[in-house]
Amino acid sequence: MALFGRIITKSHHFKTRGIATLGALPETHQMLQKTCRDFADNELKPIASKIDREHFYPKEQIKKMGELGLMAVAIPEKYGGTGLDYVAYAIAMEEISRGCASTGVIMSVNNSLYLGPILQFGSEAQKEQYITPFTNGDKVGCFALSEPGNGSDAGAASTTAKSDGSDWILNGTKSWITNGFESEAAIVLATTDKNLKHKGISAIIVPKPIQGLELGKKEDKLGIRGSSTCSLIFEDCKVPKINLLGQPGLGFKVAMMTLDAGRIGIAAQALGIAQASLEVAAEYAAKRLAFGKPLLKLQTIQNKLAEMAVQLESARLLTWRAAWLKDNHKSYTKEAAMAKLAASEAATFLSHQCIQILGGMGYVSDMPAERFYRDARITEIYEGTSEIQKLVIAGNLIKELGV
Ligand code: CAA
Repeated sequence: MALFGRIITKSHHFKTRGIATLGALPETHQMLQKTCRDFADNELKPIASKIDREHFYPKEQIKKMGELGLMAVAIPEKYGGTGLDYVAYAIAMEEISRGCASTGVIMSVNNSLYLGPILQFGSEAQKEQYITPFTNGDKVGCFALSEPGNGSDAGAASTTAKSDGSDWILNGTKSWITNGFESEAAIVLATTDKNLKHKGISAIIVPKPIQGLELGKKEDKLGIRGSSTCSLIFEDCKVPKINLLGQPGLGFKVAMMTLDAGRIGIAAQALGIAQASLEVAAEYAAKRLAFGKPLLKLQTIQNKLAEMAVQLESARLLTWRAAWLKDNHKSYTKEAAMAKLAASEAATFLSHQCIQILGGMGYVSDMPAERFYRDARITEIYEGTSEIQKLVIAGNLIKELGV
C-alpha cells in the first residue's frame, strides 16, 4: 500500500473512458485504476508489439510493476504485499492487460496462482521465504498442475512425490507452465499415491533452479508471446518435506481453490484485451471515411460498437462481483467461472469485431487488432477451458437449486 500510495501522488491527468463505471468505485480503487492505466499507456502500450513479435520478456516493466505494488496486490503488507483486495486486483489486472496481455498473465500467475495459495495454506516460515521475495518484481513464481497426459482432468496428475526421509523425491513432467522459464519457485501438484486418485495429490513448493529439474523448450505460441510457457521435467528431484503446502493429500483442493481465484485474474486479463479492442475500433471508426462520412456515423458500425460495449460491461460486472464475493468471504466458485467464461468470450468477440471494423488494417500487424485477437484466444483455454467453466457453473447451480 505504501508503494502504491507513493505512486498515486505522482499521478496526473485523469482520462475518463466513458464505459467504466468509475463513479461506483471507492477512491482508492479509482486511484489504482488511474495509476495502472497511466503505466499501461506510458510503459506497456509503446512496446507491446515488440513484446509480441520478439517473444520479449518485459523484465524491466515487471520490476517497475513490483515497485508499484502490482506483483502482490492482495498480499498483506506484513509479507511485503500491497494489502489491497481482490476487486483492486481485478481492476489492476484489466488495466495492465489493456496495455499488454503478455505482461498481464505474468502478473496474474504471480499474484493468484503462486502467491495466493502460499498466503492461504502456507506456514509462517513458508510465507517469509516464498512470499516476501516475490512481491517486488525481482522474482516471479509459477504454478505447475497440467501434465502432457492431463489438462482438464486435473485429478489425474501422475507426477509422483515419493517420501524419502526428510525429503520428497519428485519424478514426472508438468506442462504448459506460464512463467516456467523465469520463475524462481513453483507450486507443484504431485501424487504420493495414485490409487487414491485426487485424494493422493499434495502441493509442494519447489525452489528453482534445483538439481533434478530441467526446463523443456519455450513453446512458440499464437498469443501472449512475451510470457514464457514451458515444461518442468523432474527426475529424482529432492525437495525438503517442510516445503509441503497445507496438508498431505489436500493438494487437489489447494489447486481448485487457487484456480477459483486465478479465474478472476484471467477474466480481468480478458477484459483488458476487450477494452483495448473497443478503444482501437472506435478510434479508427472516428477517423476512417467511407461513403463520404466517418465509419462511426454508419449504423452498421454503431450496432457493432453497442454489442461490443454490452458484452464488455456485463463481463466486467460479473468479474467485479466474483472479486467482491471473495473479498467478503462468500462462496465464489460459480461466479468466478461465470466471470471467466463471459470475459474470455467477450475478449474473443470484441477482438474479432475490432478486426472487422478495421478491415484490411485489422489483419496486418501495423495495428494491434490482430494481436488482440491472438491474445484473446488463450483466455478461453488456460485456468480451465470454457467447457470446464460450464461444468463448474452447472455443478454449482444444480447444488444451489437442489434439483
Ligand atoms: N474448491 C474446493 N474444493 C473443490 C473445488 C473448489 N472449487 N472443486 C472441487 N473441489 C473438491 C470437491 O469438493 C471434491 O472433494 P471431495 O473429494 O472431498 O468430495 C474434490 O475436489 C473432487 O471434486 P470433483 O469430483 O468435482 O473433481 P473432478 O475430478 O470431477 O474435477 C474439475 C473437477 C472442475 C473438472 C477440475 O478438474 C478442473 O477444474 N479442471 C480444470 C483444470 C484447470 O483449470 N487447469 C488449468 C491449469 S493451470 C493454468 O492454466 C496455469 C497457467 O499457467 C496460466
